[in-house]
Amino acid sequence: MVTREQVLEALRDVEDPEIHKSIVELEMVKDIHIDGGQVSLEVVLTIGGCPLRNTIEQAVREKVAALPGVTSVNLRIGSMSDEERARFAAKLRGRQEQQAVPPLLDPAKGVVFIAVASGKGGVGKSTVSANLAIAMAAHGLRVGLVDADIYGFSIPAIFGVDDQRPTVIDDLILPIESHGVKLISMHFFVPENHPVVWRGPMLGKMLRNFFGEVHWGDVDVVLLDLPPGTGDVALDVHQLLPKSKELIVTTPQANAADVAVRAGLMGLRTNHEILGVVENMSYVECGHCGERTYIFGQGGGARVAAELRTRLLVQIPVLPATSGRGMIFAEGTPQREAIHNLARQVIAATGLRATVRST
Ligand SMILES: Nc1ncnc2c1ncn2[C@@H]1O[C@H](COP(=O)(O)OP(=O)(O)OP(=O)(O)O)[C@@H](O)[C@H]1O
Ligand SMILES: [Mg+2]
Repeated sequence: MVTREQVLEALRDVEDPEIHKSIVELEMVKDIHIDGGQVSLEVVLTIGGCPLRNTIEQAVREKVAALPGVTSVNLRIGSMSDEERARFAAKLRGRQEQQAVPPLLDPAKGVVFIAVASGKGGVGKSTVSANLAIAMAAHGLRVGLVDADIYGFSIPAIFGVDDQRPTVIDDLILPIESHGVKLISMHFFVPENHPVVWRGPMLGKMLRNFFGEVHWGDVDVVLLDLPPGTGDVALDVHQLLPKSKELIVTTPQANAADVAVRAGLMGLRTNHEILGVVENMSYVECGHCGERTYIFGQGGGARVAAELRTRLLVQIPVLPATSGRGMIFAEGTPQREAIHNLARQVIAATGLRATVRST
């Protein structure tokens, strides 16, 4: 006859899809009863209508049914009581509560932070941040993405998750996962079409919350999509993440390049290592003959790199508006190729190469 221990052992591999920990370890498995070949048990989820309910249900059923001697599985899916939920959140927080620094910021964890900055608005910071995050995840890294543009948040829309809301367990926020990337954005916390009216000091607090109150789990690298300019948020990032590295995004035009240099100098003044420059919307490539037209001129990226004594890492061509919906670069496009080239360089330059897991 199958034992309770065997059932638990079999379920040890089943993870909560949002938290990436074993449901056994998370104490989500309850009331195991064994009667001959019949096993009945309950799995309690954090919230009743948990969207991942079916995934867990199916996995549990399969694992238990596969045990020798089991003839039937009677599985109930319940939801946690308030008390259980509070205990669960405390468990997730773990050492976090005893620590002054959120685990994500603990230097011993070795998380690499990369801020994506530009100076001028609309040059493609968010597009680059989103696609780079996806590319780095595709290279086998565990990637977080913080939409630090708390007024002009656009990351959720780029990922197509702007209608989702994160699961909140007793004040602990689970990031939304999309394309293998864990994301968090102010967008998730403001009602539709409500302008954010917070002033300077609130911004820093919000960023701190993004690090402290969000359950990031294990991540190797966190990208931050900064708002344009060299304002408050950039300063907060410099203060909060003194070891953060920077990528500077510009377009080829002289005016964009000038402001990009200023944004970069600000990073240098605060001792942030600049990984290099990304030139976006560099040219339009003819789909037939491959001829390049430099519609916005040429040389912006190279000049920014020279003035900041760093390198122009990549030039991303203009994605024609006719190429379909969304700004996540599709397989086989030159934009995607450029982003993967960028990802490889960033991985090499930050020492993340050793962390890259085979996928
Ligand atoms: N390579 C590209 N080809 C075509 N369109 C692009 C490209 N990169 C970005 N865009 C478009 O340009 C616009 C601005 O891009 P994005 O929002 O990424 O810039 P940003 O620097 O984050 O802007 P903001 O300063 O408003 O935060 C968007 O509509 C985006 O879809
Ligand atoms: Mg943006």
